[in-house]
Amino acid sequence: MIVSTSSSQFPLIRMRRNRSHAWMRRLVRETTLTVDDLIWPLFVVDGQNERQPVKSMPGVERLSQDLIVEAAKQAVDLGIPAMAVFPYTDPALKTPDAREALNPDNLVCRTVRAVKDAVGEQLGIICDVALDPYNSDGHDGLVKDGRILNDETVALLCQQSIVQARAGCDIIAPSDMMDGRVGAIRTALDAEGFQDVKILSYAAKYASSFYGPFRDAVGSGGALKGDKKTYQMDFANSDEALREVAQDIAEGADMVMVKPGLPYLDIVRRIKDEFSMPTFAYQVSGEYAMIQAAAANGWLNGEAAMLESLMAFKRAGCDGILTYYAPIAAKLLND
Ligand code: PBG
Repeated sequence: MIVSTSSSQFPLIRMRRNRSHAWMRRLVRETTLTVDDLIWPLFVVDGQNERQPVKSMPGVERLSQDLIVEAAKQAVDLGIPAMAVFPYTDPALKTPDAREALNPDNLVCRTVRAVKDAVGEQLGIICDVALDPYNSDGHDGLVKDGRILNDETVALLCQQSIVQARAGCDIIAPSDMMDGRVGAIRTALDAEGFQDVKILSYAAKYASSFYGPFRDAVGSGGALKGDKKTYQMDFANSDEALREVAQDIAEGADMVMVKPGLPYLDIVRRIKDEFSMPTFAYQVSGEYAMIQAAAANGWLNGEAAMLESLMAFKRAGCDGILTYYAPIAAKLLND
């Protein structure tokens, strides 16, 4: 007689057989996580041999350009394919017209040049396109009478993209959520001979409280007047994300991104299934801060939680993850 806990006439299906040993689990594992999946976001600040801890992101520091170059070499050694550079702009350089964004010698451009000189083709460099690091009111676009201007902003973003491409940026990543910016930037880059510069669109970017620590890191938080809800997406929406992505693909995006990450994996899965595009997600500053804070309190195993969260991105359909954990994760994955 068949002893079974199930009510069916068939033998008990023992799902646990495939979990019996480490080798068996490896054999049936559906998803892999490797260093190839990681993009390392870094914060650059003026100065020389300067490190400034970001309070709300324990373990993350703003680094001066020389130290960013060292980090880039470390990324190459670890096998990390790409890094993203974000500037902490001197508040004295922030203006309502965000003109520092177009300065070919601004902090980001200087850093990109220095990194490219040091590591050349061995590492991809991603630059955000948005005005918030340069705007005295902390918004991603130009502000007039309390409104965020779309088309006027897009014109500036095109110039910002060209300036960054000239500095050697490989991937332009518009994070501003203005309408029509991907197509306009593609056209502007092509007209300047930058056909090979890629566009990674922050296609589905939500108005999220999980960006708080990042705004500390780049110093845009204190400046921010109001919120970003008239351009970043409402986190109650999911169909709208598909329309945003469809639009960006039609305009020429090479890759698309969802942001934040872990609370938005349902969006990642829908986008991947619908478009089969290279799809990335950003494990944002607040997600990083939560894991770090819990780990610091001894409330969870930080390393294990980090690796689990990164695997979850892959399982949901991500081709890669922007994560502040990139160097730590790379070390663990390489061992
Ligand atoms: C700026 C930008 C933000 C992030 C990346 N680019 C913040 C924002 O939109 O306010 C957030 C990244 C993070 O929280 O780690 N356009």
